[in-house]
Amino acid sequence: MPSYPYFYEGFFFEEKNTMLKKETNFRTIIEPFIIKSIEPIKITSKEDRKSIIERANYNLFKIQAQDVLIDLLTDSGTGAMSSEQWAAIMRGDESYAGSQSFQRFEKSVKDIFGFKHVIPTHQGRAAERILFSVMCKKDSIVPNNTHFDTTRANVEYQGAQALDLLIEEGKDPKNLFPFKGNMDVKKLQTLIEEQGAENIPLCMITITNNSGGGQPVSMENVRQVKKVLSEHNIPLYFDAARFAENAYFIKEREVGYKDKSIKSIVREMMSYGDGCTMSAKKDGLVNIGGFLCTNDDITAQKQKDLLILTEGFPSYGGLAGRDLDAIAVGLQEVLDESYLHYRISETRYLGEHLTQIGYPILLPPGGHAVYIDAKALLPQIEPLAYPGQSLSVELYKIGGIRTVEIGSVMFGKIDPKTGKETPSDMELVRLALPRRTHTQSHIDYVIEVMREIFTSKNKLGGYKIIKQPPFLRHFTADFEPIK
Ligand code: F0G
Repeated sequence: MPSYPYFYEGFFFEEKNTMLKKETNFRTIIEPFIIKSIEPIKITSKEDRKSIIERANYNLFKIQAQDVLIDLLTDSGTGAMSSEQWAAIMRGDESYAGSQSFQRFEKSVKDIFGFKHVIPTHQGRAAERILFSVMCKKDSIVPNNTHFDTTRANVEYQGAQALDLLIEEGKDPKNLFPFKGNMDVKKLQTLIEEQGAENIPLCMITITNNSGGGQPVSMENVRQVKKVLSEHNIPLYFDAARFAENAYFIKEREVGYKDKSIKSIVREMMSYGDGCTMSAKKDGLVNIGGFLCTNDDITAQKQKDLLILTEGFPSYGGLAGRDLDAIAVGLQEVLDESYLHYRISETRYLGEHLTQIGYPILLPPGGHAVYIDAKALLPQIEPLAYPGQSLSVELYKIGGIRTVEIGSVMFGKIDPKTGKETPSDMELVRLALPRRTHTQSHIDYVIEVMREIFTSKNKLGGYKIIKQPPFLRHFTADFEPIK
C-alpha cells in the first residue's frame, strides 16, 4: 500500500477526522441517504459491447446511454436530487419576470458566495461565454490554474489567449502535494510584468482543478494570487463548479481550517474574488443550471444585456423557475459535511483499490474523479496513438463502463500550418463519479473490471483519428484501432 498523508487503508478519516466516529463508531463509510426512486440499468454482454463501440467509431460520447452499465463519463448533471429538491421543483414559480423561484435562488447563492450580482444561466459555459464576451478583447490573456476545455474554448473564441499557470507539483502525477490545483504565483507575476496588466482583463482560478485531476486549491494560494492581482487592478474570478469539494479539502488539509464550517471556508475564499462562473451541474447538485456572479455594477449590467439576447430575462436566464428552486436547495445541501465526507471517501476508495491493483493514478485522488495515468500504464502506446482512448475503449468493452480520455484527444494541439500534432502534457483517463448515484457495489464492480483489464494491459494497442471537427474534437471525432 502507498503511504501518503491523505489516503491509506480506506479508513483515513477515522484518525484524521472525528466526524465519522461521532456518527457511527464503525469503519465502514455508508452513503448518508437511502434510495427513494430507482432507474434500472440494462445488462449487456461483452459481445454486445464490442459491436456497439465499433459502430460508435470508438468514441464513447457516441454510445447510447442505455448501452452503458456504469456511466463515469462525467459528474456533471448526472447526480441524484434529494427529496427536498424534488419538493422544491413543485414550488417552482414560472413567472417570466420577478419570480419567487429567482428570489429564492438569488438568496441562496448570495448566502453562500456573497457576490453582489447573481445572473442565472442554463449551465456553466453560458456564464463563461457572457463573462469573456464582456471582459475580453482580441489578444487579451486570461490566466487560470488550468482552464477547463469549455473555458479555454470560450476564451479563444474571443480571439484571446487562455493560459495555464499550474504549479509544477500539479503536473507530476506521483507528487503528493496536498494542493496540486494551486496557481504558480511567480509565473503569474512574471506574466503581468512581461505582458502588462492592461492585456490581462481577468484571472481565473478553477476549484477544484478539473483538468489537472480534480485537485484542490489552498486558501493561502488564493490569498497570494489575489495580492498580486490587486497590485495591478486585475479582477479574480472563480470557476466554482466544485467549490464545496474544494472547501472540504481545505478543511481536511490546510492548517487553521479544521474547525471551520464548509460554508465559512467558501465565504472566505469568495471574499478574495470579484465574481465567479458556476456550473450548478456539479456542486449545485442539479441536472441543469449555472450562474455568473460579479461585484461590479457596470460589468453586471453588460452581462445582463447579453444574457437577455441569448439566454433569457435576468430572473431566469435560460432556466425554468423550478430549476432555480432545485439549485437554491442543492447549494445548501452540498455544504453538508456528512455528504462531503461520503463523497470524497467514495472517490478515495476507488483510487485506493486501483492503486492496490497496480494502476498508476493521479495522486492523491481528486474530489470528483479518479484519473488514471494511461501514459505510464500503457508505455507501448505513443501519446499520439492515444493511450487514454485505448484504455477508455477497453473499459467499455470489458465492463460496460464509460469513462473519458483527458489527454491528447482532448488537448492535443494541431499546428494549422504544418498539420503537426503536439501531444498533451498528460494522458489521463477520468473515472468521474456522479453525485449520490452509485452504491459501493457499483464501485466494487468497477474495481473488479479494472483488475481483469490490468492482467492483459500489455496487449492493448493505439488508435488513430480518422475524422475530426475544428474544435472540441473529443465529442465527435471518429477513431480506428491501429493495426
Ligand atoms: N468549469 C469546469 C471546471 C467544469 O468542469 C465544467 C464542466 C465547466 C466549467 C462547464 O460547465 O458543463 O455546465 O457548461 N465540466 C463537465 C465535466 C462537462 O465533465 O467535467 P457546463
